[in-house]
Amino acid sequence: MHVKPFLRLYSGRHRAHARAFLDRSVGRELARPAMAAVPEVALRHGAGRPMPAVGVGTADSAATSPETKRGAALAALEVGFRHFDTAALYGTEAPLGEAIAEATRRGLVASREEVFVTTKLWCTQCHPGLVLPSLRESLRNLQMEYVDLYLVHWPISVRPGPPMLPVKREDAVPFDFEGVWRAMEECHRLGLAKAIGVSNFTTKHLDKLLAVATIPPAVNQVEMNPVWQQRTLREYCAAKGIRVAAYSPLGGQNWIGEGNDVMESPVLADIARARGKSIAQVSLRWIHEQGVTPIPKSYNKERLKQNLEIFDWELTKEDRLKISQIPQKKIVTAARMFSPDGEFASVDLSDMEIVEE
Ligand SMILES: NC(=O)c1ccc[n+]([C@@H]2O[C@H](COP(=O)([O-])OP(=O)(O)OC[C@H]3O[C@@H](n4cnc5c(N)ncnc54)[C@H](OP(=O)(O)O)[C@@H]3O)[C@@H](O)[C@H]2O)c1
Repeated sequence: MHVKPFLRLYSGRHRAHARAFLDRSVGRELARPAMAAVPEVALRHGAGRPMPAVGVGTADSAATSPETKRGAALAALEVGFRHFDTAALYGTEAPLGEAIAEATRRGLVASREEVFVTTKLWCTQCHPGLVLPSLRESLRNLQMEYVDLYLVHWPISVRPGPPMLPVKREDAVPFDFEGVWRAMEECHRLGLAKAIGVSNFTTKHLDKLLAVATIPPAVNQVEMNPVWQQRTLREYCAAKGIRVAAYSPLGGQNWIGEGNDVMESPVLADIARARGKSIAQVSLRWIHEQGVTPIPKSYNKERLKQNLEIFDWELTKEDRLKISQIPQKKIVTAARMFSPDGEFASVDLSDMEIVEE
């Protein structure tokens, strides 16, 4: 904005008001970071803000303080992220909501509407009558009127109780696809969830859901990275108009001390060296090129920045061929959700399993 000609239009006290207006609006522009160009994807429900093509994961151990979680979300907003993934289970809804509120106060984001927020319904709340109250509780935690995307976290239902992990085998009950999805549709109709979707659903689970859905899911969030490529599921979702989001896009957080097959992949390391990028960037770029939205978690500002810088370069055809030949290995399974002891009383683990291909 050209300041002087604008001020010349005013005189006396009006000029002082005009100056104050300029200080506020120009100051706000200056306070906001130069935004990386992040592409956005319109989701099928179309009611809300389009989904930025990369987001930030927030799953973390309960031992991390809310202050650290809030600081990490604020750092992500500062470097330019406008898309966050949380869940009732994670304990990050409240710190994330506080970070977004603070970023709005500081003028870092213009308003809550600038940010795309996903949260999820936990298995203990996967009962028709508990879906809406659970979303309302998530909204209270987030201090928000609506979420951009509400997901059924797993095709698993367990006896009602507070969100917890692992789940007791004897508490698992049959998943009411129709009843739970009707309640999700109601959340959307009420405007509390601009879009609704699922997570950890296989093609078999989606078949069951689509058979009863009036409003089909907009998103299926699943484990996906170069080491677990989900080809069958991705083809299915593309055919049905369901956007896939990739969790553990960097191979996950190593909760149980195993190696990380993504970050330690020699194939990805060679490609990273040749392109002058990091292994993380190669993985995220590959996911993006598959038409999938990665949601890497990082609490480190430099790594957060790196995870945004994946849109102004490309992998080569040879890179893609090499990545397509990486041996496949999945980390997250339904079996790992349950404590090892105890017995399933009324469900089969195979009906909930999420490994396919
Ligand atoms: N729907 C589901 O069932 C489900 C399941 C799992 C996860 N999720 C969601 O997906 C998100 C991401 O998945 P994830 O947390 O499992 O793992 P991830 O994003 O694949 O990996 C996160 C790990 O990578 C590190 N990291 C991040 N950026 C890096 C970079 N540029 N270079 C090197 N290391 C980097 C992080 O450490 P620093 O923090 O130290 O950078 C962290 O330890 C979760 O946070 C959660 O929101 C959903």
